[in-house]
Amino acid sequence: MGKLAITGGTPVRAKRFDPWPVHDEKERAAIEDVLTGGNWGGQPFPGKHADAFGKKFAALHTAKYGQCVNTGTVAIQAALKAIDIRPGDEVLVPAYTWEGTVGPVLLVNAVPVFVVVDPETYCMDAKKIEALLTPKTRALLPVHLGMRFADLDAIMAIAAKHNLKVIEDCAHVHGGMWRDKGAGSTGDVGCFSFQSSKLMTSGEGGAVITNNLAYFERVQSYINAGRRSVTDEYKKRIIGFNYRLGEFQAAILGPQLDRLPEQRKVRQANMDYFESRLRDTPGLGLLKPEPRITRPAPYGYVLKYFADKVKDIPRAAFVGALQLEGIPCDGLFYEPVYRSSLFPLDPADFPALSWGREKPLDLRNMYKCPESERAAYHEAVWFSHHLFLGTKADVDSIVDAIHKVLENFEEVRGLEHKAIKAQGQSRADRES
Ligand SMILES: Cc1ncc(COP(=O)(O)O)c(C=O)c1O
Repeated sequence: MGKLAITGGTPVRAKRFDPWPVHDEKERAAIEDVLTGGNWGGQPFPGKHADAFGKKFAALHTAKYGQCVNTGTVAIQAALKAIDIRPGDEVLVPAYTWEGTVGPVLLVNAVPVFVVVDPETYCMDAKKIEALLTPKTRALLPVHLGMRFADLDAIMAIAAKHNLKVIEDCAHVHGGMWRDKGAGSTGDVGCFSFQSSKLMTSGEGGAVITNNLAYFERVQSYINAGRRSVTDEYKKRIIGFNYRLGEFQAAILGPQLDRLPEQRKVRQANMDYFESRLRDTPGLGLLKPEPRITRPAPYGYVLKYFADKVKDIPRAAFVGALQLEGIPCDGLFYEPVYRSSLFPLDPADFPALSWGREKPLDLRNMYKCPESERAAYHEAVWFSHHLFLGTKADVDSIVDAIHKVLENFEEVRGLEHKAIKAQGQSRADRES
């Protein structure tokens, strides 16, 4: 029996962290309002709650227009339609992200082009964009991943130079700001998810924000079965689908949004404290500070783990040991999408991958993005934002567990344990 919980010792934490999502009587009242009001769906369009929330959410992000949709994936799909991405167009995406950033590009029969991530931020590396541009490139789709923003200054400059549109995937940065502009409002369109794990949630849900009325109208038509938009100034007609958000979910988003500023303060204070205690821990590194993020909104705390600085014990053992100490965390949180088991791409399903080529683009095998692979398979350790909504003592327990694991690290060398084994599999392939 060792000192670490994974080898039979007593865990640092016996008590679970408070669960996520959080709610109170305000969500209950909002649901009650929909229940008794009788208007449960998204028709007449937009629903009362979806309309009110869309406006408020856009304003918080310094955008003129906001539209609720039923998922974050659909938000990206609608954004691609809004900026008129056509079959065969190329859209640059970061290699290290959730698969839902990339799927919509394929769904509109466009071609995703993977860009490596910057090791300082784990977001799309703007320095690598220009080498990937072709006459078919139409848009850049950076993700503000984890706790950083993609370098919007550089990305917007490249977009202006090459006449490209920018869609910001903001699934991780609700309420965040870059140079005092709300997430999603620097680019042409911003896309958010309200899936359960996000900083605010309705279980499932999404939103698109923009400052461009023509794009807003196209989003409205696309997600409302092709009907004309509310304003219909541009009179654009497209085939659309029912991607509306129901009123129960839209209603919940109001109180979730109201709670965000207070939660942000707590999370930020706790994360600052976390960093102050961890800063000089051997084997660990922090992402580079980014002063251009003027209102942080970290979806998760992302640490760097350097196996070579702790005698080559793999990240899986570090994460597995921490989990057993009572600290939820993950290493293989995302994979480079081209290697993910959730990306079983058959080019025959997406004709644009073959157009004008002798052989279809083999997206699964044609990329090797070293920085993204290092982050995914060796380096990044993710801690959910909800761990930082508690007390300073909760944060202390995370740091104490990290130190305990590192101080007794030889106990896990070569250890076989299901928590360690699970870290060798993508989240989608794990047993639970
Ligand atoms: C970076 C990123 N993009 C897109 C999405 C897609 O959102 P959803 O799951 O709501 O479809 C998610 C979340 O799941 C995400 O984390």
